[in-house]
Amino acid sequence: MKIVIIGGTGLIGSKVVQKLREHGHEAVPASPDTGVNTLTGEGLAEALKGADVVIDVSNSPSFEDAAVLKFFQTSTSNILAAEKKAGVRHHVALSVVGTERLSESGYIRAKQAQEKLIRESGIPYSIVHATQFFEFVPRIADDLTVGTEVRVPPVLFQPMAAEDVAKTVGKVSVGPPLNGVIEVGGPEQFRFDEIIRRALAARKDPRAVIADPKARYFGATLSERSLVPDEGARVGEVTLEMYVKQKAAAAAQPAAAGR
Ligand SMILES: NC(=O)c1ccc[n+]([C@@H]2O[C@H](COP(=O)([O-])OP(=O)(O)OC[C@H]3O[C@@H](n4cnc5c(N)ncnc54)[C@H](OP(=O)(O)O)[C@@H]3O)[C@@H](O)[C@H]2O)c1
Repeated sequence: MKIVIIGGTGLIGSKVVQKLREHGHEAVPASPDTGVNTLTGEGLAEALKGADVVIDVSNSPSFEDAAVLKFFQTSTSNILAAEKKAGVRHHVALSVVGTERLSESGYIRAKQAQEKLIRESGIPYSIVHATQFFEFVPRIADDLTVGTEVRVPPVLFQPMAAEDVAKTVGKVSVGPPLNGVIEVGGPEQFRFDEIIRRALAARKDPRAVIADPKARYFGATLSERSLVPDEGARVGEVTLEMYVKQKAAAAAQPAAAGR
């Protein structure tokens, strides 16, 4: 199968490309880095020629409300139009668990707009809702920082490894279109403030982490289950402990090689 991965050079995309290739598929990454720009349409028709499936794991370079909305609306419209011309049979997109209930967030409103375009496109599709990636936790901490404090709503949090996200997206892409959403989360639940506290402590980051139910997450007020998937969701394999060990091992590798 020829599978084009929009955003195939990013955190999730590069792992999806690798996994699909390991399973014998023709996986083609498409992003500005490879000469494909979904905002301008440059290189898109060419990349989609003969494609059976398109996976969209791209992300907006800016998370500012208007910029991110423009990114997902323009990019998704261009991708879907190009897919129609190329006769693509399955569009797969990665979105966020809780997208339907977090409309206060400008970023999430952009993901809602992306999903609406997909649902109304007439192209068979699958939307994967994933929880927050372990890799994204430092960026979350920065977003929640006020002065020298990180103010975090102490709600349930079920983070997962990018590795597990990529595995799920890859599997869904080679299966039949779901014409709906599937959810995937990490294997463990934590308190959001606990994870941020642990992540900062591990990096010896001096910012104080304060549990604050009113703190907004990318613009949205959260309730207990806003960020966690429903019962029956798929569950990744990589626990926090495994992730921390893998990260430490990867960090030690270049030093070992240089010895
Ligand atoms: N972070 C989380 O915790 C979380 C949770 C659930 C879902 N998600 C979703 O996961 C998806 C992927 O996130 P990620 O962290 O893997 O993203 P990422 O590492 O930032 O990668 C973004 C990708 O998008 C590409 N891109 C940017 N502008 C483009 C354009 N104009 N045309 C084509 N490609 C473009 C980039 O290409 P270049 O490398 O060439 O710039 C890169 O390959 C996002 O849609 C996000 O909403 C994230």
